[in-house]
Amino acid sequence: MTSFDSAAARSDTGAARIDSVGTRSDAGVARFDEAIARDQRIEPADDMPEGYRRTMVRQIAQHAHSEIIGMQPEGDWITRAPTLRRKAILLAKVQDEAGHGLYLYSAAETLGADRGDLTRRLIEGRQKYSSIFNYPTRSFADVGVIGWLVDGAAICNQVPLCRSSYGPYARAMIRICKEESFHQRQGYELLMTMMRGIPAQREMVQDAVDRWWWPSLMMFGPPDADSPNTAQSMAWKIKRHTNDELRQRFVDMTVPQAEALGVTLPDPDLRWNAERGHHDFGQPDWDELRRVISGDGPMNAQRLRRRREADEDGAWVREAAAAHAAASSPAVSSTSGSSPAAASTASILEGER
Ligand code: ACO
Repeated sequence: MTSFDSAAARSDTGAARIDSVGTRSDAGVARFDEAIARDQRIEPADDMPEGYRRTMVRQIAQHAHSEIIGMQPEGDWITRAPTLRRKAILLAKVQDEAGHGLYLYSAAETLGADRGDLTRRLIEGRQKYSSIFNYPTRSFADVGVIGWLVDGAAICNQVPLCRSSYGPYARAMIRICKEESFHQRQGYELLMTMMRGIPAQREMVQDAVDRWWWPSLMMFGPPDADSPNTAQSMAWKIKRHTNDELRQRFVDMTVPQAEALGVTLPDPDLRWNAERGHHDFGQPDWDELRRVISGDGPMNAQRLRRRREADEDGAWVREAAAAHAAASSPAVSSTSGSSPAAASTASILEGER
């Protein structure tokens, strides 16, 4: 098995690794530890270990980037939706993803990070986003399968994050999960419609399921034994379940849905295990996940290029907004990476003191 702690797989937020030093005072450490033990929320002004702050910025930024990059695979189909109704649904869904990215960047800002700086780290390939968005969408059935499997996996992963210990992240997750539920339902309904159609439509659905099943399982991250961050994130109650626990929950939830739909999940080892009360299933290709995370997936270059172009195209809007803000309040001088907030992002993520 390949270690996910290798240099190739790490982003420059790797400094956010387990580290409980840096809290301002012994009393602050005690308050933080007590709040975690009592299952209370940590709020932006509360004392927190620097390792906790860096881990939160790392996870929230990666999550935000995933939402924004995640607009691309399905966005490609907006102009090719088969009916006005499907187009309206898809437009709404892709816009929702943009909104999720914005809530999450706002949550990262409560920790002292700078949104422009996080975006720059993404487009320079220094911060990660979900592996799942580096696969191509080949037919309209992919839109349905992304809704069903990818958003279904996102719900499994993110509903427990509504109880995550960091308040602004947990609260953002509540609305995100409600919207993801709509995304999942629209995907499943689209697939149901296609499965009731002609044989060519049913084949498109099965083909899309065959291509997206394994990458969907990879969304949950490496196996627990190979996950460098899980133990500390569980101790800090950022994560409420391990990667493997959530992957199992997703498989158990999805198998009956696949049966109702009439598709076959492409795993010869998938079967009910009465003793465990769960489905047994095969292992994804973990080397593939490592490659995709490291930038070598089928669509990584295109996804980042388009994100970079969008950032450049939007520069004039940000400049105009910054000029307006500066005119109304002299204290707000810049939204660029050279701002004090950007310097503080670097210090949070890289442990610069
Ligand atoms: N794609 C890209 N990177 C991944 C993936 C993946 N599927 N799985 C794990 N990684 C990265 C981790 O970010 C971590 O990188 P880093 O330490 O350099 O920052 C490294 O691989 C090792 O993984 P873990 O130790 O398991 O990392 P972590 O404890 O952060 O768990 C997980 C990863 C489960 C993705 C967690 O960060 C999480 O729950 N994030 C919030 C949900 C999210 O980001 N979802 C994105 C897709 S959902 C959507 O619809 C947009």
